[in-house]
Amino acid sequence: MPYELKPLSCNPGAIAGMSKKVIVSHYENNYGGAVSRLNAIEAQLAELDWATAPGFAINGLKREQMVAMNSMLLHEVFFDSLGASKASRGLDAQLNIDFGGLAIWRVQFAAMGKALGGGSGWVVLAWSPCDGKLVNTWAADHTGNVAGAVPLLALDMYEHSYHMDFGARAGLYVDAFMKNLNLAAASKRLAAIAGL
Ligand SMILES: [Fe+2]
Repeated sequence: MPYELKPLSCNPGAIAGMSKKVIVSHYENNYGGAVSRLNAIEAQLAELDWATAPGFAINGLKREQMVAMNSMLLHEVFFDSLGASKASRGLDAQLNIDFGGLAIWRVQFAAMGKALGGGSGWVVLAWSPCDGKLVNTWAADHTGNVAGAVPLLALDMYEHSYHMDFGARAGLYVDAFMKNLNLAAASKRLAAIAGL
């Protein structure tokens, strides 16, 4: 079964400080592009003669499959992350334990986004089931994540996320993103994964 686009989970006309145009373009071109690329790669993998294919062909296709798959999944969390709302008591309590509170976590998460400005990558708030902790993770492309960790919030630092609205001023985009944090969506994910 080919992968399909999930409907846009945020209301693109209601994200303060970010234009409908950039969010819709991001959804259609970048997220949509990742989904159609993933389907094209999977079609090639289905045709591959695994017994005779050279290592570089296998490596190339499997690497690109991972890039496209993670890009698709992280973009889905990214669009879910937009839409200002409050954290549940469970998420709030866990942020207290692991970061010393929501306010401290916010400062760290935004600083990581701004540190990636001018480059590209992802900042992800993830739940690590191995050690029962929330962690802010850094990734310079779509493939770098803590092993086994589950994304709760994702901040996309690729230029396509903000250039249309803010030019090179990535920091203003991070500030707008932080004003629109959908903490209720993150709380729901945390409850489903960790029961918190
Ligand atoms: Fe993106």
